[in-house]
Amino acid sequence: MGIPAFRINKKILYRIIDNRNDIIVGKCKSKDLNYPYFAIFAALLKLICDMRTIQMVDTKTQYHKIKQEVDKAVIDVLESSAFINGKPVQDFAANLSAYMGVKHTIPCANGTDALQIAMMALDLQPEDEVITPSFTYIATTEVIALLKLTPVFVEVDARTFCMSPEALEKAITPKTKAIVPVHLYGQAAPMEEIMKIAAKHNLYIIEDTAQAIGCDYTFSNGIKKKAGTIGTIGTTSFYPSKNLGAYGDGGAIFTNDDELAVKLKMIANHGQSKQYHHDVVGCNSRLDTIQAAILDIKLKHLDAYCDARRKVADYYDRAFAGNEKIKTPYRTGYAKHVFHQYTLILENVDRNGLKEFLASHQIPAMIYYPIPGHKQKMFASFGSSQNNMANTDWLTERVISLPIHTEMDEEQLAFISSKVVEYINQ
Ligand SMILES: Cc1ncc(COP(=O)(O)O)c(C=O)c1O
Repeated sequence: MGIPAFRINKKILYRIIDNRNDIIVGKCKSKDLNYPYFAIFAALLKLICDMRTIQMVDTKTQYHKIKQEVDKAVIDVLESSAFINGKPVQDFAANLSAYMGVKHTIPCANGTDALQIAMMALDLQPEDEVITPSFTYIATTEVIALLKLTPVFVEVDARTFCMSPEALEKAITPKTKAIVPVHLYGQAAPMEEIMKIAAKHNLYIIEDTAQAIGCDYTFSNGIKKKAGTIGTIGTTSFYPSKNLGAYGDGGAIFTNDDELAVKLKMIANHGQSKQYHHDVVGCNSRLDTIQAAILDIKLKHLDAYCDARRKVADYYDRAFAGNEKIKTPYRTGYAKHVFHQYTLILENVDRNGLKEFLASHQIPAMIYYPIPGHKQKMFASFGSSQNNMANTDWLTERVISLPIHTEMDEEQLAFISSKVVEYINQ
């Protein structure tokens, strides 16, 4: 009995294999692929299909690992019909306070609201100056202008991507009222130095912890605190891609100050002190019960999620070590990086070319952030585009973030890092 022959469009097969896994199979001479060849190709195709699609974040695979618990929690909320301010909201707030080691957690609708409510609670007046890095997501700086305050952009340290204490001190004027350090990419800003400067000038600190929940900060005296619980107020986001991500929007505000906690809670709820008594102007910013129930489950995994991200970062660090065109993320001695992003600084590399090359191999990459705050049109009236922001501008032109999440495997990491090196060394 002869070997069965299969007519296969080899061109298509070759292209799939080349694009998906970079395996070149070009030795087949016959027009028709007979059985042994087909078996090899089938095995290869299986291997290729088995490599999961590479994504910047993979919330679906993560969800499937906790699906039973999450589905039950969601159904419980549906059955209770307590969609707003149900028990899971208070439970989650209490559990998050315990995890963060902070007295008060005020859940709210998202991380942008958290920043806005924090600034409202501090009674900042129009034109008061709020110092913030230019190199951050727009939400940090946008709320300052929204509240008719004046954003004062300062430089970041080019190694840590976070606010430079020297630049901060230079930017302080008699109008300065608050500082908003951002723990960017999962790396904590140098809070010990920032706290000293704030104390010297009697300034509030609002820590934007949207990208760094779970990050441990160690002071020079050995005291450890969570990023977000060090300043006057801390804020965070539960946007789905965040280290502690909801399945929709969500946010929270942290403080150890009892009076501020009452005010923050009131502002997040229409300035209401008791039902239909509205003492201050507030807003409507609530964390849905369903999201709180999901977050409460995910909170138990947060440390493991941060560890998984660190492992990915370790892999990339090793893969790029010694490559003079690639600067891998700096890890400070004072903070345990939680790698919300894994961001490289490229020297003498066509960054867009690399991004396109990676995309041609189905590898996503992102530029966080291509336009810094001081150059955004929305702030034109503050004249900040004239600011000298050498580090910020330098970084803006050189950074690129690679996929990093809790579900990455070595096969994906090997593929991504080999493609980055291949392009850069060409
Ligand atoms: C640094 C930073 N601040 C604030 C926010 C705003 O959070 P949200 O999208 O939940 O409003 C984000 C979200 O990406 C962020 O990265």
